Amino acid sequence: MGCTRSSMPAVLPVPGEGTLRRIDYLRISVTDRCNLKCVYCMPAAGVNCMEKHEVLSTTEIVRFVQIAYRYGLRKVRITGGEPLVRGDILSLIRALKQDVGIRDLSITTNGLLLEGMAEQLKHAGLDRVNVSLDTMDPERYRNITRGGALDTVWRGIEAAVEAGLAPLKINMVPLRGINDDEVRDFARLTYERDFHIRFIEFMPTGGNAWRRTDCVTSGEVRAQVASLGRLTPLLFRGGGPSRNYRLSGARGVIGFISPVSDHFCGSCNRLRLSADGKLRPCLFSDQIIDVRPHLRRRSADRDLADLIEQAVRSKPAGHFIERLGTTAPSLVSLSQIGG
Ligand code: GTP
Ligand code: 5AD
Ligand code: SF4
Repeated sequence: MGCTRSSMPAVLPVPGEGTLRRIDYLRISVTDRCNLKCVYCMPAAGVNCMEKHEVLSTTEIVRFVQIAYRYGLRKVRITGGEPLVRGDILSLIRALKQDVGIRDLSITTNGLLLEGMAEQLKHAGLDRVNVSLDTMDPERYRNITRGGALDTVWRGIEAAVEAGLAPLKINMVPLRGINDDEVRDFARLTYERDFHIRFIEFMPTGGNAWRRTDCVTSGEVRAQVASLGRLTPLLFRGGGPSRNYRLSGARGVIGFISPVSDHFCGSCNRLRLSADGKLRPCLFSDQIIDVRPHLRRRSADRDLADLIEQAVRSKPAGHFIERLGTTAPSLVSLSQIGG
């Protein structure tokens, strides 16, 4: 059925700027399960996982994306939990690429399963991958992820490069006193490799005992990186919130994602869909639109498009990290919302 909103672009006024911003990026969490328990993401005991029947099926996700695409959401990122633990991930990617026609189709993964899957992911239609990697020291990696094997991730990264999943981006969350002494080592990687190394500020999310003092700000990280050489700003913005630079003589890119020190909500271009079908206008908003009942009772496309419009219109101008003190109340883990 045709959708009455098909030609309506998802645009919103930018607060204070009098201009419009396009909401064109959909992040879909396809599972809340993960094969790691990173200290900044989950409590040691893990989190309660959704029941299988609660999780959207591939058919339901694809229908939702079809409607969202007509509404103007053109870039899709698949997240988790760990998206590669979902059994039918390849058919989902194939459908999003071939049936919906998503041009920028990417995944955020911890990389543990990449080695065996990179080639098939590329073949199914995946364009690129972002890999979470916070340390280059095997023992630290085991501690931060509560059990992960670093060499498996590196083999996964190399397999992704080999398969042509590019550009390959690495997400590093510097934690004070834990891995912040590795910032320069990560930045140095860009001399040899054309990776995008992105430093992400540690955010308060459920499952972590966030203290403002543990968050190494982008300003601090940037000062460390700048001690290596000249940092030139790059004009392009990727699909996301990263501010990008290049060290002189380097092949790769350095990015800073600064949700804590310099929130980017006013220019945020995304909506999020959780694995159980909750549409969120913002990572930190408690406004949730449950689309699953509509998908399950096969509501009209028009009704689903209305929910998408509602989510776009309720995107906040700012989030609450800036209003927080030194600690944060309990929130939902990123593995449950989708990082
Ligand atoms: P591309 O630039 O398209 O590669 O995507 P991206 O940087 O948005 O993707 P990725 O999943 O790698 O995001 C990196 C991290 O930035 C996330 O895991 C979050 O920690 C953070 N982040 C991404 N989007 C948001 C957002 O909307 N709000 C906040 N606060 N943090 C975000
Ligand atoms: N703060 C910042 N980034 C986080 N991630 C998970 N939890 C947090 C947090 N509290 C990031 C991971 C990964 C992505 C899924 O989310 O580093 O790149
Ligand atoms: Fe899993 Fe990613 Fe959370 Fe680590 S950050 S526990 S890899 S969902």
